[in-house]
Amino acid sequence: MTARAAIILAAGQGTRMRSPLPKVLHKIGGRTMLDHAIDTAQELGCERVVVVVGAHSEALGERARARLGPDAAALQDPPLGTGHAVLAAKDALAGFDGDVVVTYADTPLLSAEDIAPLFELRKSGADVAVLGFEPVDPGAYGRLVEGEGDRLERIVEAKDATPEQLLIRRCNSGVIAAPAALLFDLLSQVGNDNAKGEYYLTDVVGLANGRGLVVRTATAGEEAVMGANSQAELAQAERVFQARRRAELMDAGVHMPAPDTVHLAWDTEIAPGAVVEPYVVFGPGVKVEASAEIRAFSHLEGAHVGPGALVGPYARLRPGAEIGEQAHIGNFVEVKKTTVGKGAKANHLSYLGDGQVGAGANIGAGTIFCNYDGFDKNLTVVGEKAFIGSNTALIAPVTVGDGAMTGSGSVINRDVAPDSLALERAQQVELPGWAARFRDEKRKRKKT
Ligand code: UD1
Ligand code: CA
Repeated sequence: MTARAAIILAAGQGTRMRSPLPKVLHKIGGRTMLDHAIDTAQELGCERVVVVVGAHSEALGERARARLGPDAAALQDPPLGTGHAVLAAKDALAGFDGDVVVTYADTPLLSAEDIAPLFELRKSGADVAVLGFEPVDPGAYGRLVEGEGDRLERIVEAKDATPEQLLIRRCNSGVIAAPAALLFDLLSQVGNDNAKGEYYLTDVVGLANGRGLVVRTATAGEEAVMGANSQAELAQAERVFQARRRAELMDAGVHMPAPDTVHLAWDTEIAPGAVVEPYVVFGPGVKVEASAEIRAFSHLEGAHVGPGALVGPYARLRPGAEIGEQAHIGNFVEVKKTTVGKGAKANHLSYLGDGQVGAGANIGAGTIFCNYDGFDKNLTVVGEKAFIGSNTALIAPVTVGDGAMTGSGSVINRDVAPDSLALERAQQVELPGWAARFRDEKRKRKKT
């Protein structure tokens, strides 16, 4: 197979986002648009990936290097157009001999399957391959000027187009593939004598034809090519992304009676036969096993829910929550960095942080794992089949042994041996008739 590389353009200013956060660090499905673009390039089998970044956002370069290595970010300063941007990646791809595909970091829905046909066109003899699409409104997109057979003659930018050319419905998505050496060679001939005074990547198509080379197109759907340039467009892309992910999960056998109310992350894994009730939000890093039920209004991130477990309604699972098989986590229970054993239950109003709960244990309503002393996070261990009475505060580090019990309202700060009962509360005092005498006294005083 011909080696593949990708150049991801991300040097645009993104001013329409009106946000201090760089445009392509905004997230879709809990993952930045830049990361989605890198994922797509990697799924295509690109062995080298270079992100072209502007001088205004060091964070983009940092993210690219963190994922791809020290040479993965190429600086384009100042940005003088898409052709100029691709040339900025030339040094980073020195020594690469194969096909290169150019994509944009701000088209987060573009998948490897959308782009793969360009590499097929290359294999079947096209020198340059362009991904086209037919938008409902061609507006400002570049128009594909097609010639004999299925050959693409050139791309005209809307600002430079004649009235007839503006009637062309097939447009340029911006994604283009060609051998790296050819692409950089063609780009070295591109000038900026056009309406925007920019170096257009799209000009390589006309130049290739001038050399007798063959340029062909593949077609993507409009959704795939959708850019996210403003908060509203980002939200629209998120809608499409969510709809796709839900459809995938439902196809795979996940029961979701009100899918439109469920918010998923890019990596949410839910096994066939699991149930997700209305209004559940998944942050990144969640895996739900078969027959588990995530009940309404729960919020999960970085959590693993075992087979047949019951979570919610109104539960919150935070990173490191490991909910065992058949375990129950009920309403207003927050779990963080805690393993809950098989069949254990914490059904009401509790905080389980930095802990281990043994199989079959019962955590009473209002139990708090007091894990933090202002400096360190400490571990709470509850043994198998232990019974924690309602409103117990467990001051970590502390261990309650297997089969032990704590009395309601106790503050437990020393370890409890297996099968013991630990109680920490004042003796109950009873004053017979006191309440009635108290009321009489009060009433008398009101009347006088
Ligand atoms: C470009 C195409 C147009 C196509 C459209 C699809 C050109 C000349 N035109 O137009 O045919 O229909 O995309 O959306 O290629 N960028 C840089 N450096 C630059 C300029 C742009 O990195 O100097 C990046 C931007 O961050 C963005 C992408 O390239 O991700 C596209 O740039 P943009 O200016 O939006 O191109 P369009 O004018 O929309
Ligand atoms: Ca007490």
